[in-house]
Amino acid sequence: MTYGPFGVAHLNGKTVLTPNVAPGDQVEAEITSTRRDYAVARPVRLLRAGVDRREPRCRYLPTCGGCDWQQIEYSAQVGIKAELTVAEFGRAFGVELDPIGLIEPADAEFAYRSRVRLKIDREGAIGYHELGSNRLVAIADCAVAGVPIDAAAGLARELRKGCDEIEIVAAGVRQVLIAYLGRPPIARDLAIGRRLIETDQRVAGIVMRAGAVRKVMGDALITVEPEVGCTIEAGADQFSQVNAAQNKKLVAKVMALAGVAKDSAVLDLFCGAGNFSLPAARRGALVTGVDTDESAIAAARANAARMGLHQVQFVAMAAAETAQFLRRAKYRPALVILDPPRTGAIALMEGIAKLAARRIIYVSCDIATLVRDLGALIKRGYRIGQVAGFDFFPNTHHVEVATEMVLT
Ligand SMILES: C[S@@+](CC[C@H](N)C(=O)[O-])C[C@H]1O[C@@H](n2cnc3c(N)ncnc32)[C@H](O)[C@@H]1O
Repeated sequence: MTYGPFGVAHLNGKTVLTPNVAPGDQVEAEITSTRRDYAVARPVRLLRAGVDRREPRCRYLPTCGGCDWQQIEYSAQVGIKAELTVAEFGRAFGVELDPIGLIEPADAEFAYRSRVRLKIDREGAIGYHELGSNRLVAIADCAVAGVPIDAAAGLARELRKGCDEIEIVAAGVRQVLIAYLGRPPIARDLAIGRRLIETDQRVAGIVMRAGAVRKVMGDALITVEPEVGCTIEAGADQFSQVNAAQNKKLVAKVMALAGVAKDSAVLDLFCGAGNFSLPAARRGALVTGVDTDESAIAAARANAARMGLHQVQFVAMAAAETAQFLRRAKYRPALVILDPPRTGAIALMEGIAKLAARRIIYVSCDIATLVRDLGALIKRGYRIGQVAGFDFFPNTHHVEVATEMVLT
């Protein structure tokens, strides 16, 4: 498998990439596009199933592009994620990672997502796109969603053309819906939202967003617990990790790697509402958390105050500016925690390396950008320490990886 939706085969010296296959499958496939180095094919008929192939549970597969690995037995998915991680680190850095135990499997491979974001078509149907296309696959349920999606489907249908995407976020046993509109909500939209909250007990709140415009109806707060005794309240439309159970394991590992000493300076860049900052502050660190999202920073501050954590400060700023600002201020963190979006943070690596923290823990949901950014840190004097993966996204190729970088 690639680090993506494709199985890899070879034909006359050319690589052929085919989606919806499992390792060892023999399939008849039709080539749909050809590039210089590789071709992409569409499986037409399964001739012989590989040992790790299974029947996907989801009735929308293989058309739906949401779960690209559901046809692979779960234990094999975890094994492939480990092999891919080992291969990437080996290729990029010549490091030999042990694949055994490298990726922490999820306890639940279905119904694990505490938030799902769905597309909406012109008729108001909700779903995911087909793989590599903008065609919507309309769905009435989703096997990996931990929340029912029918209330969102009703809201999308009523809002129709005004709404491009809808997100369903678990709020305890209830849910919050976030409607992403192409224009600010009008009175009719707000009336539809209010009526849904009144008539459907499962819907605690609705947020309607259009650029900077944010209209909240009902209760749109959710509570996230990165570790026992640490609860973070934040708006449902602020970033939170999609897999709450795996997030607890990740936070525990990051805290173990961090080995936070009392009063040591910790910089948490891309801190969101404080998923790592607040656990580090509970261990006595002097934490500075930075994120561009002002509402996430406001939530982080409020949560710190509620928990009586006074050794933590949160700054709403772009990470790139922060690294420069802190260097000029001669700030010397003992540890930097970095958890950027999927695109990574290459532009930041030089500035971060100049802070000369003894250790950096880089948390990433994309191996390609992770390896690229770690390479930049290695050039500036860091070496790879421990690497730990967590399967946040069962039935897809995605994986969350925490890497410890040590200043040599
Ligand atoms: C993957 S999330 C991680 C959040 C947090 N560490 C957590 O675990 O919940 C990435 C975060 O980066 C923030 N972000 C995106 N671009 C940024 C930038 N240029 N500077 C600072 N923060 C940014 C987003 O607002 C988001 O909170």
